[in-house]
Amino acid sequence: MPAGPSANLELFGSLDAPGGAAPGAQTRMGRQAWILRGLALPVTDALLRGVDEVLRQAPLRHMLTPGGRRMSVALTNCGALGWTSDEHGYRYTRTDPLSGNPWPAMPAAFAELARLAAQRAGFAGFEPDACLLNRYEPGSRLSLHQDRNERDMDAPIVSVSLGMAAVFLFGGHARTDPAQRHPLFHGDVAVWGGVDRLRYHGVLPVKDRPHPVLGSRRINFTLRKAG
Ligand code: SIN
Ligand code: FE2
Repeated sequence: MPAGPSANLELFGSLDAPGGAAPGAQTRMGRQAWILRGLALPVTDALLRGVDEVLRQAPLRHMLTPGGRRMSVALTNCGALGWTSDEHGYRYTRTDPLSGNPWPAMPAAFAELARLAAQRAGFAGFEPDACLLNRYEPGSRLSLHQDRNERDMDAPIVSVSLGMAAVFLFGGHARTDPAQRHPLFHGDVAVWGGVDRLRYHGVLPVKDRPHPVLGSRRINFTLRKAG
């Protein structure tokens, strides 16, 4: 398990930390929910190559919510299972509805980082079979939601942030519970599972603070065990 509160770096709501929070620091969001600061930094080149590979095969698209609204976040998937949304609801599919092809393979660097992050957060043996890749532009947001389309609630969610910083909302088990606000920076990895697996979470509208490598974009990918 990560170290206790002394390693906890709180920057509630602040994006004004040039270069992000101290790599190696750990922000505790809940009993079994952590932000592992900068864990992805040593492998960002491999991750970004992986992102390019996935996007070539399965381009980003804006999906519709079951309520018929167009999501401001553009998304795609890799791995055996991919998360999709349309006016009929949310579900995991084995093929990309745009092409009819299987989702692109999960880049090895994604799975390796996910295993490391999960293990650091106390979830040894995590084997993701689904990876949802989100692209945020200035103004993109993700409203509070629970990740509950996965079959196995014992496996955690591992969420990797690249590019522009954003404010992550981490709420409770009811939509109306107050939400913590944590900045997520390039290279940060959030992990939540166990008693915190079903906590509501979301992302505030992203501000345009261009990142040196990714410009006015934030790429986030979440690894899950969906099947
Ligand atoms: C998600 O909830 O799937 C993504 C969260 C994020 O973009 O940080
Ligand atoms: Fe989510």
